[in-house]
Amino acid sequence: MSYNVDTLRAEFPGLAGEAHGKPLVYLDSAATTQKHISVIERMDRFLRYEYGTVHRGMYARSVGSTAMYELAREQVARFFNAPSESNIVFTMGCTDAINLVAWSWGRAHLSAGDRILITGMEHHSNIVPWQLVCEFTGAELIHCPLLDDGSLDLAAFDELLDERVKLVSVIHVANSLGTINPVVDLARKAHAVGARILVDGAQSSPHMPIDVQALDCDFFTCSAHKLYGPTGIGALYGKADALQSMPPWRGGGEMIERVTLEKSTYAEPPARFEAGTPPIVEAIGFGQACAWLQEIGMDAIQAHERELFPIAEQILADIPGLHRIGTAPERSTLCSFVMDGGHASDIAAILDMEGVAVRAGHHCAQPVMDRFGIPATARISLGCYTNVADLERAGAALRKAADMLQ
Ligand code: ALA
Repeated sequence: MSYNVDTLRAEFPGLAGEAHGKPLVYLDSAATTQKHISVIERMDRFLRYEYGTVHRGMYARSVGSTAMYELAREQVARFFNAPSESNIVFTMGCTDAINLVAWSWGRAHLSAGDRILITGMEHHSNIVPWQLVCEFTGAELIHCPLLDDGSLDLAAFDELLDERVKLVSVIHVANSLGTINPVVDLARKAHAVGARILVDGAQSSPHMPIDVQALDCDFFTCSAHKLYGPTGIGALYGKADALQSMPPWRGGGEMIERVTLEKSTYAEPPARFEAGTPPIVEAIGFGQACAWLQEIGMDAIQAHERELFPIAEQILADIPGLHRIGTAPERSTLCSFVMDGGHASDIAAILDMEGVAVRAGHHCAQPVMDRFGIPATARISLGCYTNVADLERAGAALRKAADMLQ
């Protein structure tokens, strides 16, 4: 299928809106993406005509819902090339998936003397759960520093990685910098010292084909809402032996095998980690988003965004007083920047008045801001539907911002 961005844009109703009387230019896909019409329609159809509980009903409606929910798991598994759908646990999102690993795997496998190695470019979701679990288990959280261009200091990584490290947890694409980390190499290194590796794929999965078997990661996490799907759902991929070794972390219905008032035994993964009635509608929407993305092709989306990205970078380079933060040689399609004369929120506010939506702030990555000695950045992030006109409108708005602030 050939990639036609104009056809694609027409399939995203959310792009048709206005902001301050101007047509919306949506450049905040790293925060959350607009929704594809097939996702909206699939969820609508399920809610109107097919809705029922899952795994609990003997009647036709529930049996049908259960099949659709489990089909969604298969669609997610296929999207990430997981060996089986039983490697996919539905979670509330990427943050929830990391917390699951922290509280289930971490509680079972970590104790005093053990280390968890993260990086200096993690967002809070891949820092705070480990801090909490370290307080609980006595393990120690260490981090690999960054070079000035925002890439990982790989020499420092090698120094920090030894047998004390039981888990490496690393962001695949940094949401505040755009850096793409060499996760295949990091996985190989982690495994060489006997550590597991978690790859946080919130910002990579929307922009490149992901094959969890080729990455050879033990865990991979993602959020559906960054993949053109709904909020409130995401996935944890786990290798079978890793998931098997993990105790439940939330108790309730469906995660059990047998319950007595004294003691319970637990279901096999992934059910072991899905207590209570799950977000059925959202899971079905997530499955549809994955199926649609596979139809378009992640390599086609990646090629489209890669074609646009140099245009975005050139537009930013031409704005007086604008300074990029995060210029690692391997970077994804987002740009963080600051501007002379104003705070990042001033830039975002001026752009907003021009109808251009960008994120400004610390991007839930305060340690990254500290590393670069700044309070915040503004950030432009691309999606499958971004076109040259979007970037030109952003460029014009940024020139206005530069004129006003400097
Ligand atoms: N992590 C998301 C972002 O970067 C929320 O905007």
